[in-house]
Amino acid sequence: MTLQIKSLEEYNKEYTKSVENPEAFWAEQAETFTWKKKWDKVVNWDFREPNVNWFVGGKLNITENCLDRHLEERGDQAAIVWEPNDPNAPTKTYTYKELHAEVCKAANGLKSLGVVKGDRICFYMPMVPELAIGVLACARIGAIHSVVFAGFSAQALADRVNDATCKMVICSDYNNRGAKNIPVKKVVDDAMALGCPSIETVLVHKNTGGSVKWSEGLDKWWHDTIDHQSTECEAEEMDSEDMLFILYTSGSTGKPKGVVHTCGGYMVYTTFSFNNVFQYQAGDVYWCTADIGWITGHSYIVYGPLAAGATTVMFEGVPTYPDAGRFWQVCEKLKVNQFYTAPTAIRALMAKGDQFVEGYDLSSLKILGSVGEPINEEAWHWYDKKIGKGNCPIVDTWWQTETGGILITPLPNITDTKPCHASYPMPGVQPVLLDSDGNLVEGNDVEGLLAVKYPWPSMIRTTYGDHERCKNTYFSMFENMYFTGDGARRDKEGRYRIIGRVDDVINVSGHRMGTAEVENAINEHKNVVESAVVGYPHDIKGQGIYAYVIANQEVTDVDAFRKEIVAVVRKEIGPIAKPDMIQVVSGLPKTRSGKIMRRILRKVASSDVSNLGDTSTLLNPEVVQEIIDNALV
Ligand code: WT7
Repeated sequence: MTLQIKSLEEYNKEYTKSVENPEAFWAEQAETFTWKKKWDKVVNWDFREPNVNWFVGGKLNITENCLDRHLEERGDQAAIVWEPNDPNAPTKTYTYKELHAEVCKAANGLKSLGVVKGDRICFYMPMVPELAIGVLACARIGAIHSVVFAGFSAQALADRVNDATCKMVICSDYNNRGAKNIPVKKVVDDAMALGCPSIETVLVHKNTGGSVKWSEGLDKWWHDTIDHQSTECEAEEMDSEDMLFILYTSGSTGKPKGVVHTCGGYMVYTTFSFNNVFQYQAGDVYWCTADIGWITGHSYIVYGPLAAGATTVMFEGVPTYPDAGRFWQVCEKLKVNQFYTAPTAIRALMAKGDQFVEGYDLSSLKILGSVGEPINEEAWHWYDKKIGKGNCPIVDTWWQTETGGILITPLPNITDTKPCHASYPMPGVQPVLLDSDGNLVEGNDVEGLLAVKYPWPSMIRTTYGDHERCKNTYFSMFENMYFTGDGARRDKEGRYRIIGRVDDVINVSGHRMGTAEVENAINEHKNVVESAVVGYPHDIKGQGIYAYVIANQEVTDVDAFRKEIVAVVRKEIGPIAKPDMIQVVSGLPKTRSGKIMRRILRKVASSDVSNLGDTSTLLNPEVVQEIIDNALV
């Protein structure tokens, strides 16, 4: 197993070593894994291209590290504990032996359908064990998975399938989500109808057993394909830098981009970070409530915990079903030791009242985690007091889809914790703050743009099919730096506090969204001429979506118009992108060069209009007063 830091002194020592001699530091971590062939060089990198290679020349299969290597020592230990949506349905456990067998069967099944190394396979599935099994089956045979969160629309699914020219979609028939039964296969059918020419097979897992429309030739059942397969499947030899997966995420411009992660570095970093951030001990039960449709689920439900030989919980349901005590009921039932969730969930549960926590025995909890957005002070204290009973350090983990793993975080019981502070960099991570000209902002008690000046093993390698875009988005802003898109403060003691995005990306309930993407969706409405979307502070969601819309005719029924716009956004992207506020305006504040002055729109949406800054360069200053007068907040 990788190093597990145990004291502040050791953290300081290892951090220094990781900066002074990164190659030696990472070689030591990498040596703890099973390699088919050892690497020739630890890292080669050039951020200008960008070209980053870790464990160069090394050969491995990540599933041998997540499964095979545990069989002897902990084959009968639970690998995945699956908790269903229905609290009265039985919990299902897969031991490492069982998971190994299921993954091999699925891998053989995929092979029988013609899937080979390098093929892209899309997953559009709820949180059922077959999602984890399927993802690992791809990794077993060298197929590249692209998991699309099952809340996205048919259009969004089709866009992602086509961008990666996927050969197959793997889905469920229906999804249990709270009291709802959601037709998942129907969305895939609709995506196919929109046109997905690269798809040869839709592999359907029977989850709830509801009726589905069937396309002979295209559709195949998971059970017909996989159930009879052999429980042994040799793991494909992968190069360290072969692609492991693609995961789409939103940026400030254009369509979502496919972030590419590769095998060797991703394995080493997710395992190392899991092992240290959660201080996992043999026998612990670890639960991350994320969905595998997001990076948190990839790195800290599936790969990191399994490579570390942990017991990882996978939850099908939602925090508020059958009531707002569900998380705590599951913590008690499964005796969860490490619990990792998002601030939006904490705020939503906090708002429901303490009576949903009281009565549950949470004494198994040792460490609490937070991820995805800044955690506000009130939520932090509630989490600390009501859930952790003041005994569980909170790790406020900062990272991104692009970073693959946690980069800035407290280490529990090792470094101190402070509300709202992600605190200190992990060993091997070298963050810097920059001013807008790219000058280093040095010292403490300062603020700047957050960048990283040295590569770490699980960093983004490219954006699928468009390397230029990767370069422009992350590596062109500042020379020789990875730019995160976030602003941050460094406090007097050197702790980092993430302030939030400095670009046109918003974070709604921990879901990352490009404002341009939402605008493009809104503009699909036949009566919308133009729109501008900004984020605004929202008590539960962190940020809400505020849309300013210009219509091509007088709007007589504003409510109906709003409903139609919401429906268009649901269709183009999915319910997670639907605007909370829609204000119909006669114009948008624009500079003489035609750029929308979003600063003003953000201020209006945050009801902070006392100082709008310089509006003299506006082409149409008169529109500002109209927007303020009709603001919805
Ligand atoms: C953006 C990345 C990393 C997994 C989930 C989100 C924000 C993330 C924190 C935190 C403040 C945070 C940043 C980042 N963010 N964690 N602990 N404190 N902000 O991944 O969807 O790629 O979003 O989420 O703004 O850039 P993502």
